[in-house]
Amino acid sequence: MAFTFFFRDQQVLERLVEHSLPGLAGRSHPRIWDAGVAMGQEPYTLSIMFAERMGHFAFNNLRIDATDVESTGQFAQMIEAGVYPKEELSRLPEGVLDKYFEPNGKPGFFRVIEKIRRRVAYQRHDLLSFHEIGHGYSLVLCKNVLLHFQPPERIEVLRMFHRALAPGGFFATEQTQEMPRELASRFQRVIPDGPLFRKVESVECGSCLLRDGDTIKMGDEEFQVIHTPGHSSDSICLYNPAEGVLFAGDSPLLITSPTGTYEAGFLAALEKLCACDVRRIYFGHGAPVTERCNQRLRDSHRIAAGQPIGHDGAGTQ
Ligand SMILES: C[S@@+](CC[C@H](N)C(=O)[O-])C[C@H]1O[C@@H](n2cnc3c(N)ncnc32)[C@H](O)[C@@H]1O
Repeated sequence: MAFTFFFRDQQVLERLVEHSLPGLAGRSHPRIWDAGVAMGQEPYTLSIMFAERMGHFAFNNLRIDATDVESTGQFAQMIEAGVYPKEELSRLPEGVLDKYFEPNGKPGFFRVIEKIRRRVAYQRHDLLSFHEIGHGYSLVLCKNVLLHFQPPERIEVLRMFHRALAPGGFFATEQTQEMPRELASRFQRVIPDGPLFRKVESVECGSCLLRDGDTIKMGDEEFQVIHTPGHSSDSICLYNPAEGVLFAGDSPLLITSPTGTYEAGFLAALEKLCACDVRRIYFGHGAPVTERCNQRLRDSHRIAAGQPIGHDGAGTQ
């Protein structure tokens, strides 16, 4: 059984509620995603804390989407019932038990009152699917979960939370969790001494340094920055997954001759591009490439890495 309890990490939750409240209260249907909730004590704690601080109308429009990977349905049942043994409730802040719990009929058990229960909706979800459950969240909370993941998984899960958040939305985690360096441009720390971050919408070109893995917005489209140290050490490509468009600039991505030598960073960038779905490539000069882009990138990677390509793909440009 996963370890959790009511009002766990209370200080983090207090700061989170304090910072996110103005934004939440200003939305007609404020939504929170609480990920990795175990038996539900955490989303019910959040619900109680917001009930204490929000007006009646705003609170009644609040929805806390609580998720966990647990697959037997046991967590779902417990959260739906909202019934907890009395000994679990012994450490509640003063007054909370009387105000937000009621006897359940079963000796030694109390039930979260309906007003608080109704704000929490549970669904099973595996964070390692890397598919967000929705978008436009004002707040995402994921506490004491990320530590179980490998560093690359943690980065992908955080990218997913970034996508799920509304512009300027908040993300909170446990005190000991660090924001990976790769995501420093996407999440701005809100308080110096706590794990509370704010979504940075997009990188402003021209006024800041672009890093590999950043996302920049141009018009309505988002582009991923891929560092391609080939033509020069600061070369980048911009890839738009939605349209399958790659802006290659001067990066020599289509390699046809095995005579060149390429640095490891460029080979790694080519390998990354091989995993993308590229349907058009625009270079700084010349006509765009609109056919067999994925195959040509894979051939280029093999040629640059000194491997045979094994079919008639060579000499494509
Ligand atoms: C220690 S509990 C944390 C509960 C609560 N967030 C807290 O801070 O008290 C960790 C929870 O993460 C869940 N979890 C682990 N891997 C997960 C995954 N891949 N996707 C979603 N939840 C996961 C576990 O099932 C467990 O309920």
